[in-house]
Amino acid sequence: MKIPLVDLKANYLSIKDEIDKAIQEVIDNTSFIMGKYLKNFEENYANFCKAKHAIGCSSGTTAVHLALIAAEIKKDYEVITVPNTFIATTECISYVGGKIKLADVNEDTALINIEQLEKTITPKTKAIIVVHLYGQMPDMQKIRKIADEHGLFLIEDAAQAHAAEWNGHQPGFYGDIASFSFFPAKNLGCFGDGGGVVTNNDELAEKMRLLVNHGRTTKYEHKIEGFNYRLDPLQAAVLNAKLPHLTKWTDLRRKHAKFYTEQLSEIEEIQTPVEAKGAKHVYYMYEIRTKKRDILMQFLKDKGICCGIHYPIPLHLQPAYDTFGFKKGDYPVSEMLAKEILSIPIYPEITEEQRKYIVKNITQFFRK
Ligand SMILES: Cc1ncc(COP(=O)(O)O)c(C=O)c1O
Repeated sequence: MKIPLVDLKANYLSIKDEIDKAIQEVIDNTSFIMGKYLKNFEENYANFCKAKHAIGCSSGTTAVHLALIAAEIKKDYEVITVPNTFIATTECISYVGGKIKLADVNEDTALINIEQLEKTITPKTKAIIVVHLYGQMPDMQKIRKIADEHGLFLIEDAAQAHAAEWNGHQPGFYGDIASFSFFPAKNLGCFGDGGGVVTNNDELAEKMRLLVNHGRTTKYEHKIEGFNYRLDPLQAAVLNAKLPHLTKWTDLRRKHAKFYTEQLSEIEEIQTPVEAKGAKHVYYMYEIRTKKRDILMQFLKDKGICCGIHYPIPLHLQPAYDTFGFKKGDYPVSEMLAKEILSIPIYPEITEEQRKYIVKNITQFFRK
């Protein structure tokens, strides 16, 4: 049996008519830049997140960039994040001239270690980017409190965490800004690149709205210099068609994750993901941990099961950061996780037969 890590085709086919109709409507109206389809999605997504404002942008990367500019992060300001995230998070700190500071993560959740976060704060620190890795939020009440005590701007990189919650609140509630990616494989994904930011702050919203579209107030009047970071209305229409299904898809991901955890937690050599009390994990990825990761991955590949590693090299050990003064051993938990984590297939449409086949093969591997 062949099982992909994510099955974009199955997802499309499950609501094909709705998506085809939405795309055709944009084409029929030749509404290709800004316009009502984008506005509709922004309103619907803000409502979904229970946030005051949502602004579409061109990717999850530009979303983090917008948030850092809105936060007024400038040269040599320190911004704290984690080593076990996609490089987009740290790239954006460099885009604005900021200094990347890292705090290690907890072994059980792979999310920021709050004690280390506090210890990493210096008088030069101006912002924190919390990453809701794999779809789980850390204790955002604690982090908000720390940010307030130190006067820090709080950004939530929620690229992997649409519909996730901490104590009943989604990204954008505790943070000043939350950024999202709508990359096709994400829990809410479009048919190309796409992203968005949400905030409850009117001023930040206005600023980011200007920034995404050349600082325009009218067609040829520009209040500030900005970017062409607009979300394409064709993508917004796809997202609008998908959004009403996101809650159901999230429930399915959680159900599949529960099945894996029940079936795999008896295997001593595996650690299944920990869902912290207070967190609603949305399982963008279902990560298991094992010291036999590489041979297990090859074994599953031979059985037709596609797995992934998110991420195999922690950021402080990336060649791109060779000159940043980091060294091996600086963030031991992230380094250990990079060697042991394995993402097994999870997506709303994965069938019971597929899940059982995955569990059967993992079990068989450890019984050998
Ligand atoms: C945590 C995190 N931040 C930012 C991004 C960047 O998003 P995009 O690929 O849409 O630019 C990603 C994408 O995978 C991500 O996982």
